[in-house]
Amino acid sequence: MFDRHAGGERSVLVHLHLKGIQTEENFLTEFQELVQSAGGQVISFLTANRYSPDSKYFVGKGKAEEIALLIEAENIDMVIFNHNLSPAQERNLEQLFNCRVLDRTTLVLDIFALRARSFEGKLQVELAQLKHLSTRLIRGWTHLERQKGGIGMRGPGETQLETDRRLVSKRIDQIQSRLAKVHAQREQSRRGRVRAEIPTMSLVGYTNAGKSTLFNHLTKAEVYVADQLFATLDPTLRRLDFAQIGQVVLADTVGFISNLPHELVAAFKSTLQETIQADLLLHLVDATDKQRVENIAEVERILKEIGADKQPTLYIYNKIDLDENLQPHIEYDDNEKAKAVWLSAKTGQGIDLLEQVIIDFFSQNYQQQTIILDPSEGRLHALLHQKTTVINEKMLEQGGWEMTISFEYKTIHQLIKTEKSLQNRLQIEANVNEWEIQ
Ligand code: GTP
Repeated sequence: MFDRHAGGERSVLVHLHLKGIQTEENFLTEFQELVQSAGGQVISFLTANRYSPDSKYFVGKGKAEEIALLIEAENIDMVIFNHNLSPAQERNLEQLFNCRVLDRTTLVLDIFALRARSFEGKLQVELAQLKHLSTRLIRGWTHLERQKGGIGMRGPGETQLETDRRLVSKRIDQIQSRLAKVHAQREQSRRGRVRAEIPTMSLVGYTNAGKSTLFNHLTKAEVYVADQLFATLDPTLRRLDFAQIGQVVLADTVGFISNLPHELVAAFKSTLQETIQADLLLHLVDATDKQRVENIAEVERILKEIGADKQPTLYIYNKIDLDENLQPHIEYDDNEKAKAVWLSAKTGQGIDLLEQVIIDFFSQNYQQQTIILDPSEGRLHALLHQKTTVINEKMLEQGGWEMTISFEYKTIHQLIKTEKSLQNRLQIEANVNEWEIQ
C-alpha cells in the first residue's frame, strides 16, 4: 500500500513564487534533482507568481486548469509541488487533474524511503510516511476510484477509507513497538562504547557534500555511495585505529536538506543521538557549491533543533579537486586551533591533514601512558580495560602486564580518586581544573 511510485514516471513540477518570499535559483534546481533522485522523469517545470496561495487549488483555478490540459496532452502520471499542500488542496487538485499529486514532504519522505538501508532507518521512514499519510487519508485514492467508477461509488469508497485508517493506525502501533526494541539495543551498545571510553566523531553535512565518500576513505568500508541526494540514511558506525591515540568511532549520518519535513526530523531524533553525543563533529561542506554558506546555516539550524549544536566542530571543505585554485590546507582560528580542513575525499588529497587534526584534537583531550601491573592486580587490569582504550598490552615474564593506555583526563582523574594504587603511577599532565571536575 505504501510502495513508492515506480521509476520513470512522467512528472510535471510546480513552484509558486509567492510575494515577499525570495526563491534562490538553486532551490529550484535542487527540487528538480530531488524528483530525479526519486526516479521521476521531468516533462515540464512550471512556475507562477501569486500574492498568496489559493486555498482551494494552491496555484489558483486558472493555472490549475492550464496544468490539467498539459496533463492530458503529455500523458502525465503525477504533478509534484515544491511546497507543502493541505490535504484539501491535494484532494482538489487530484480531482481536477485525475492523476496523483505529491507535495514536497511526500517527495522527500519517498526519497528517504528509497535510501533507507538499516532495519531501524526503514522503520523510521515508514513511521514518518504513515503519520503524514494519516492526516491525508481522507482523500486516499478512493476519490480517484470514485471518479473512474462514476457516481454511486461513494458507499464502498468510504468503507475502504475506514479499513485504510484502521490498517494505518495498526501499522503505526506495530512500528512504534519494534522501534522501541531497536532503540533499546542501540542505546545499550552506545552505553558500552561510553563505558569503554572510546571517543566518537560524527559526520554531518548537507546532502551530497560527500559524507559517504569520506567515510569510506577513512574506514575503507563499503558504504553505498551514489551521486543522488540522500545516498546515506542510517548512521553507520565504524572504528578507526590511530597508532597515536588508539580507537575512535566514526558515525556517518543522514544528509540534511533545506525544508526537511518535520516528521522526518522527529523520526530521526533517536538515530541522531549519536551526533548529539559525539566528542567531535565533522561538518562536511561541498566547497564548490555556490550555496555553501546557506547549506552550512541549514545544517546548523537542524543540529540546533536536535540539540547537537554545542559540540566542538571541525569544518571539512570537500571536493577541492573540482577547482584548480583550491589546495589542501588547514585553516586556523585566532587561537591557532584548527577550525577547517580543505581536502578531496575522492582523490584523497588532504586526508592526511584531516587525520593529523583529528589526532591533535584527541591527544589534547586524551593522554597516553604505559603502566605496569602486578599479577595480583587483576581487578585493576579489568577496570583499565573497561575505562580506557588499551593501545598495547603484553604479559610479563614474571607475571602481570605492561599496558599502554589512552584516556581522557577527566575519567582518569575520577578513577584515581577511587583507585588509590594508581595515584603515583599515572601522571596527569593537564591542568585538571580546566575540566571542571566535580
Ligand atoms: P547524502 O547521502 O545524500 O547525504 O550524500 P553524501 O554527503 O554522503 O555524499 P556522497 O559521498 O554520496 O557523495 C555525493 C557525490 O559527490 C558522489 O557522486 C561522490 O562521488 C561525489 N564526491 C564526493 N566527494 C568528492 C570529491 O572530493 N570530489 C569530487 N569531485 N566528487 C566528490
